[in-house]
Amino acid sequence: MKTQVGIIGAGPAGLVLAHLLARAGIESIVLEMHPRQYIEERVRAGVLEQGTVDLLNELGLGDRMMRQGLMHYGIELRFAGRGHRIDFADLTGGKGVMVYAQHEVIKDLVAARLAAGAEIVFEAKEVRVDKIESEKPAIRFTKDGVTQEMECDFIAGCDGFHGVCREAIPNGILQVYDRNYPFGWLGILAEAQPASHELIYSHHERGFALMSMRSPKISRLYLQCEPDEDLNQWPDARIWEELQKRFSTSDGFSLTEGPVIQKGVTGMRSFVVEPMQFGQMFLAGDSAHIVPPTGAKGLNLAVADVRVLAAGLKEFYASGKRDLLDRYSEICLRRIWKVQRFSWWMTSLLHKFSSDNEFDRRRQLAELDYVTSSRASSATLAENYVGLPFD
Ligand code: FAD
Ligand code: PHB
Repeated sequence: MKTQVGIIGAGPAGLVLAHLLARAGIESIVLEMHPRQYIEERVRAGVLEQGTVDLLNELGLGDRMMRQGLMHYGIELRFAGRGHRIDFADLTGGKGVMVYAQHEVIKDLVAARLAAGAEIVFEAKEVRVDKIESEKPAIRFTKDGVTQEMECDFIAGCDGFHGVCREAIPNGILQVYDRNYPFGWLGILAEAQPASHELIYSHHERGFALMSMRSPKISRLYLQCEPDEDLNQWPDARIWEELQKRFSTSDGFSLTEGPVIQKGVTGMRSFVVEPMQFGQMFLAGDSAHIVPPTGAKGLNLAVADVRVLAAGLKEFYASGKRDLLDRYSEICLRRIWKVQRFSWWMTSLLHKFSSDNEFDRRRQLAELDYVTSSRASSATLAENYVGLPFD
């Protein structure tokens, strides 16, 4: 097998890259370890920045998103028993975010790629990268028990945090920067009408909670828990009881309850490797960085990386120049660190830290009060949430 760009991973990074390259007339093959159905059903992120929405539309991949997604022009920050709206449209000159599930984006990207006759190899096992420092790197994998080799010009490591690409870079090349948080999120999907039209981020003395949604009939709710929380300790009734407490207000707010159709626990970490390139291999998305989900940035950052990578590859194939490719890490990392800062800040602002003393709690409340009462501070939150501009 031969292709120009071998893409490992059919997540948002790998699939958006494949579409961007196809638009530029560059051939690629996507290798994915899981079956199609698995990646199309895996429940993950739900908020798309304006820039991500615009890109999907530009690529002709936004039809279903525009019909079924929910445009939001604000969020609520709730603390001390009261809600405070952050008005994105007013603070950012009309920008907003789209609430549309990651697995729906994946379905749209997979369907469009297959319809165009381009390749995604599902259930590619034992994927290994080889000769990444040479002009002709290769990817080895097995499919249906048969070992195959794919020769390419470049490898895009879009294989997520637990993938093989980052691990294939020799010791001593990468600098790792990370931070673990002493909590996780217990997330549920419920057949219940969302109790508000917009997302609610709630700071509470019992811990953080978030109300999001997937449709006018399906709620997506999260509550701060232990990083290794045992789901068996959380029957549905206990989850609802805890959520009701954490969203309660002085004027009697109540969540609409309904059958829980999915639940899981997600760990929280901040993680970055530098550089994001070695030889002919480029890392993009979660394979190079992780953000805690409080800023709703993981998917968007993955898409931002591959925009830069696609532009660099386009320049290379058009002119033979590597200027942009050589600056790939540098360009991506400028955005990544700003998004890391924002995601860390949202996380620190809203969660209960077990080490907190009363001073820290009051400082957190003062910051929430400031963010929701100062236009300058609300605007900072809003411009980061809807997505920073591209260079
Ligand atoms: P991924 O989506 O992880 O895609 C990588 C792909 O590579 C996967 O399909 C994987 O199967 C495949 N792969 C891995 N290893 C190999 C291999 N060796 N060979 C072939 N294929 C391989 N973000 C938010 O903003 N909000 C959220 O609520 C949120 N929830 C999350 C919940 C979970 C459980 C996780 C894991 C992440 C969540 N995120 C969330 C983060 C967001 O989903 C990610 O940032 C986003 O998926 C990154 O996209 P990606 O393409 O870089 O990686
Ligand atoms: C979600 O809808 O899954 C979601 C929304 C906002 C976040 C994280 C997750 O910050």
